[in-house]
Amino acid sequence: MNSLDFKGRIAIVTGGLQGIGAAIVKRLEASGARTRVWDAAAKTDPVDVSDAAAVERATARALADVGKIDVLVNNAGVAGLNVPTVDYPIEEWERVLRVNLTSQFLCCRAIAPHMVKRKYGRIVNISSIAGKEGNPNAVAYSASKAGVIALTKSLGKELAQTGVLVNCVTPAAAKTAIFDQMTEQHINYMLSKIPMNRFVTVAEIASLVCWLASEDCSFSTGAVFDISGGRATY
Ligand SMILES: NC(=O)c1ccc[n+]([C@@H]2O[C@H](COP(=O)([O-])OP(=O)(O)OC[C@H]3O[C@@H](n4cnc5c(N)ncnc54)[C@H](O)[C@@H]3O)[C@@H](O)[C@H]2O)c1
Repeated sequence: MNSLDFKGRIAIVTGGLQGIGAAIVKRLEASGARTRVWDAAAKTDPVDVSDAAAVERATARALADVGKIDVLVNNAGVAGLNVPTVDYPIEEWERVLRVNLTSQFLCCRAIAPHMVKRKYGRIVNISSIAGKEGNPNAVAYSASKAGVIALTKSLGKELAQTGVLVNCVTPAAAKTAIFDQMTEQHINYMLSKIPMNRFVTVAEIASLVCWLASEDCSFSTGAVFDISGGRATY
């Protein structure tokens, strides 16, 4: 593992209890960062990042406890149902959009002003190859992840002269608990689309995310970073 320098840095990782988020926490901590996990499933201090008031409370608590936030990784997300668009329930559409997209808007909105005041920050949003390509039978997921790309581009440009950089990553499928929410057919479809013919590992995603969250990333903002084993064509 190459070393990154996060000494003295404080990072918030949403959905950091398991899967990709937990791998990001592990890599950040191994590189010297102190981390705080905001996860709805946490036994102590759960944070539902789709709830604006909960995000405001968690931000205030973090700033009171540790004084600053250098890094925000917006990772919490759900897969949503795998059904054709014409059969997709409206409540499920709204839930997936709220958890995957509105949550990232809420966390950016709560934390970015603090980063701007300190003239330093790195925000990394977890999108998906589905947001670029659009996976069939996953309309809400694909649309939410496309929304994350647009959110990243928009905020990145707004903050370009502040010292706060905002980027996103678009991973192909990684074998985590999120697979339990998908049909077998959908998982096979995703694998069939990856030219490297394997799933990406959570450590590989964490490596890219942590570079984007570090000081070494200094001239990229509002950008979309591919990690799709060759699937992405742009
Ligand atoms: N695994 C993949 O194939 C893959 C591919 C591309 C992108 N992603 C994205 O990566 C992110 C992490 O996925 P994962 O595979 O690790 O999933 P996961 O299901 O293993 O973990 C997701 C975590 O988010 C938390 N969470 C869910 N809703 C929340 C909420 N409202 N508030 C706070 N926490 C919440 C869960 O409790 C869980 O700990 C997601 O945004 C997902 O869309 C995953």
